[in-house]
Amino acid sequence: MISRKTAREIELMREAGRIASEARVIAGKMVTVGATTRSIDKAVYEFIKSQGAIPTFLGYRDYPASICVSVNNEVIHGIPGSRKLLQGDVVSIDIGATKNGYIGDCAATFIAGEGSSESARLIKITRECFYEGLKYAKAGNRVSDISGAVQNHAEANGFSVVRAWTGHGVGTKLHEAPEVPNFVEKPRKGKDPRLLPGMTLAIEPMVNEGVADIEVLDDEWTVVTADGKKSAHYENTILITDGEPEILTISEEMP
Ligand code: MF3
Ligand code: CO
Repeated sequence: MISRKTAREIELMREAGRIASEARVIAGKMVTVGATTRSIDKAVYEFIKSQGAIPTFLGYRDYPASICVSVNNEVIHGIPGSRKLLQGDVVSIDIGATKNGYIGDCAATFIAGEGSSESARLIKITRECFYEGLKYAKAGNRVSDISGAVQNHAEANGFSVVRAWTGHGVGTKLHEAPEVPNFVEKPRKGKDPRLLPGMTLAIEPMVNEGVADIEVLDDEWTVVTADGKKSAHYENTILITDGEPEILTISEEMP
């Protein structure tokens, strides 16, 4: 069952989305040489609380922090700590905010100080993958239309998409139906739901410089690339409408 949000629920999703997106801007500005990942987590925690909201990830399946910070070869679910960012680090930050029971989920990747042009290209293409997918986020299309657009853009640029984790429906729960993969299985198999107005989805390309394969570290959270090459992540919560999709995790200066 894929929930379709009412007008009132959509208003609440916009508010949660704004908070998550503003927190992402704050976090992005803190991605600087010498900053600890824990300091970014703390700033996001304080901001989300100041907005009368709750950091969605804190305590979710016993996750110990408010944000995920994934550096270089780390793909997603990196845990904030005493690590100091170094010049050129590729830093993916994922943030959830819950307000009045509704959730905004978003992510983006930033560079600490000056990075390589190849890192900048990885980040740019990953963000573009989201917008390519968004073009197909329309009533009447299927989830796999989004997936295919994301995958094509990444692969056409020589990168690979992670398959072990996917985007997802989002609302009163962080992970709702449907799954929103960043790839299409050929021949297409499994459920491939049609999109309808009122559905709210997190579209979140995870793009690797090298192979798509990943491993999970002994902390049982941190997902890393199998070949040690870099990865980037970009995510917004979006609403399917009668016309163009609406980005719910929107704010000024958003990456
Ligand atoms: N945004 C991620 C997702 O969609 C993240 C969170 S996992 C958590 O799955 F445990 F950190 F909450
Ligand atoms: Co998500």
